[in-house]
Amino acid sequence: MKIKVGVLFGGKSVEHEVSVITAIQAINAFDKEKYDIVPIYITREGDFYCGPDVGKIESYRDIKALVSRSVRVLPMGEKGRMKLLRQPPKMFGNNVFDVIDVAFPAVHGTNVEDGALQGYLQTLGVPYVGCDVLASALGMDKYAMKAVLKDSGIPVLPCVRFDVKRWSRKRDELIEELEGALRYPVIVKPVNLGSSIGIKIARNREGLIEAVDYAFNYATIVIAENAISNLREINCSVLGDYETAEASECEEPINTDEILSYEDKYGGGDGKSGGGKGMSGLKRLLPAPISPELREEVRTLAIKTFKVLGASGVARIDFLLDKDDMKLYVNEINTIPGSLSFYLWEAIGVKYPELLDRLISLALKREREAADISYSFETNILANFGGGLKGGKQ
Ligand SMILES: Nc1ncnc2c1ncn2[C@@H]1O[C@H](COP(=O)(O)OP(=O)(O)O)[C@@H](O)[C@H]1O
Ligand SMILES: [Mg+2]
Repeated sequence: MKIKVGVLFGGKSVEHEVSVITAIQAINAFDKEKYDIVPIYITREGDFYCGPDVGKIESYRDIKALVSRSVRVLPMGEKGRMKLLRQPPKMFGNNVFDVIDVAFPAVHGTNVEDGALQGYLQTLGVPYVGCDVLASALGMDKYAMKAVLKDSGIPVLPCVRFDVKRWSRKRDELIEELEGALRYPVIVKPVNLGSSIGIKIARNREGLIEAVDYAFNYATIVIAENAISNLREINCSVLGDYETAEASECEEPINTDEILSYEDKYGGGDGKSGGGKGMSGLKRLLPAPISPELREEVRTLAIKTFKVLGASGVARIDFLLDKDDMKLYVNEINTIPGSLSFYLWEAIGVKYPELLDRLISLALKREREAADISYSFETNILANFGGGLKGGKQ
């Protein structure tokens, strides 16, 4: 019997469109001999839709029309699978649209990639591909991620985290703190976004104020960190889990701007970047033209980062290399990388369908391992609960 995979994408996220691209590329690449694919589109309002056109990229030119000819479904967990119930239910006939064996979140950004969707799937009790709740949440919070990495001795750039209230009420004090902890140029980033949204470099105090105000358009918490002026970026993907993590080829993304912009990542620019292809269309050098020693350093550090953050499935670890002193820093983990970084695996002989195969196996492995853990702890607390609720937690 084929395994039925529900590919979930979209959602209440600024990276909604990017997710559609990632998901539809994956849907097309799955080995259809082994898997039945059920595309599940999550609208910006958080509603789930299925139907024959949901897995087709052309449909997303007019999302309203797509939604009106698709079936709204309500996921329900049942015996380790996810039932998709038609909404609203029909008076007569079968209201089960489909039943999913494994969920495949192909989502980007807050409200979906940050552990929210993973927590939902976990609550439903359905196996899902990729990072668990904690690793997903760490991957989305640039400050929490750095704190955990730093604690394990992984090199990250110094940064300061602050919220919009403090910025508006105690700006002078905060600027002094930032200038004490960091040195110009400084880069300011929303703490929990991706795709370079809301990011600016500041060269002086005036620029800092501008960059912070800009970042606060997109988030209520931001980080400021030392910016590297003479920068090279190297990315490396990791596939596996806490036991089996292995590293892909390394790439060097090429930016047309000072920072790698949304345009660089997803098209536009000079038209050569293959607009609309997601991260697979980014201009890059693959393999990255780096020494074998640096390549190994990147790959080893990528695996270490993946494991320290408790990641699972496939994740892309992005590095910053300071050309002035050749110091290497981990910048971030992308727990569900755009296009799932399939090109980095193809470069070492792992074809896209095989990558997807391995992701499904990892999800099922995690489920088997979780099944071995006991979730009931026999006590008689409830049996002894008579009247009143005074006891509570001591
Ligand atoms: N410390 C830094 N110094 C210089 N450039 C940086 C630094 N951090 C990020 N950048 C640039 O900004 C881009 C986006 O930053 P990143 O932290 O990767 O955020 P996002 O999650 O939006 O991708 C990077 O790809 C890089 O080009
Ligand atoms: Mg990035």
